[in-house]
Amino acid sequence: MTRPCADGWLEQRLRRRGRPVGWPQLLQWLLHDPEQGYYGAGHVRFGTDGDFVTSPTLGTAFAGLLARQLLPLFDGLAAEDAGPLALIEWGPGEGDLAVQLRGALEQLDPPWLERLTLVLQEASPALRRRQHQRLKAAGWPLVTAAAAAPRRGVVLANELFDALPVERFQLADDGWRQLQVDLDAEGGLQEVPGPPLSASLLRQLAALGLPADGGGRRVGWTSEWCPALAPCLRRMRRGLDRGWLLAIDYALTADRLYAPWRDGGTLVAVQGQRAGADLLRDPGRQDLTAHVCLDAMALAAGRSGWHWHGSALQGEALLGLGLAGELSALSGAEAGSLAKRLQRREELLRLVDPHLLGGFHWMLMQTEPAEALAGESIRIWPGWSA
Ligand SMILES: C[S@@+](CC[C@H](N)C(=O)[O-])C[C@H]1O[C@@H](n2cnc3c(N)ncnc32)[C@H](O)[C@@H]1O
Repeated sequence: MTRPCADGWLEQRLRRRGRPVGWPQLLQWLLHDPEQGYYGAGHVRFGTDGDFVTSPTLGTAFAGLLARQLLPLFDGLAAEDAGPLALIEWGPGEGDLAVQLRGALEQLDPPWLERLTLVLQEASPALRRRQHQRLKAAGWPLVTAAAAAPRRGVVLANELFDALPVERFQLADDGWRQLQVDLDAEGGLQEVPGPPLSASLLRQLAALGLPADGGGRRVGWTSEWCPALAPCLRRMRRGLDRGWLLAIDYALTADRLYAPWRDGGTLVAVQGQRAGADLLRDPGRQDLTAHVCLDAMALAAGRSGWHWHGSALQGEALLGLGLAGELSALSGAEAGSLAKRLQRREELLRLVDPHLLGGFHWMLMQTEPAEALAGESIRIWPGWSA
């Protein structure tokens, strides 16, 4: 992978550095740098007119259905102890989901609005400002420091983990090596082989089905893994004494992520609703995102103090929470104009389409082992598997 010299901010930064940079640091710059990063500097454009859609940026249907799962979780916690509870959203983007959940709670169970503290954990200073404005306009007081919040509740992370920096690595003649990015002789960007993977990473990859000798993969076979996964899960866990974590993302099991035919990994660049393979184009102006490894998530959860409850496809989860009923309600006269009904129908279908958002995974973890569940906290939906 090479890019001709453009002498932009990334080239200048690499020149100042004077040595190649690994992908975790590079992605930290490209995505989260407060002056240049796609999220950090607020270049991200959410929604159908922007770079990509997420479930909440499509409309309000997702939040309405999700609230039906969140309420039983909060009811279960409230039944154990009448103390305060928090809804802690990590990576809330522009705050759409939080605003929409407020609307859904208002409809489903208004007393919960008074009882819940909303906490937003956002890495981007630019997005934090937008969230504040949105939440203020919606009239939902918000706490931004998790330390100040109640320590029982539900952590929610929609499309957070796919935005964490990953390490790209490649099979060389002498085993697995990191990939790095450096300047070439003309001052352009190029991907170059870096140092061998550490023994501890090799052990983790072997546990995910990727053996140290490459397992018959060709020299040059490339993939990625996420070193930020476990630290992020640990931070989430430290913010909560008792409760749940629901992470929603596109994910693959390790046998599919590291299947010999998936050469190149899943890291893609996204801009203007299109995914592309040119990761170094337009630095800081395109999203860079990788699939979550389900098995790595379950293993890291266990090591971070979470009890893995299981995962379900989003389409199945939403059907279990009443999406089909929402579709049939569109035939009623009270559903509004034809244009409004068609738009809502489109939104609902995209949420369940297995090739679109319906193929996402809901990954549920809790602070206590499964036996300690209070009452009917989990709505068991088809496909939910430990
Ligand atoms: C793909 S966007 C998803 C936004 C929103 N949840 C949605 O579904 O529309 C990823 C979000 O996670 C944030 N983010 C990434 N890494 C983070 C971290 N380590 N801590 C907190 N927020 C983070 C980004 O700034 C951005 O708001």
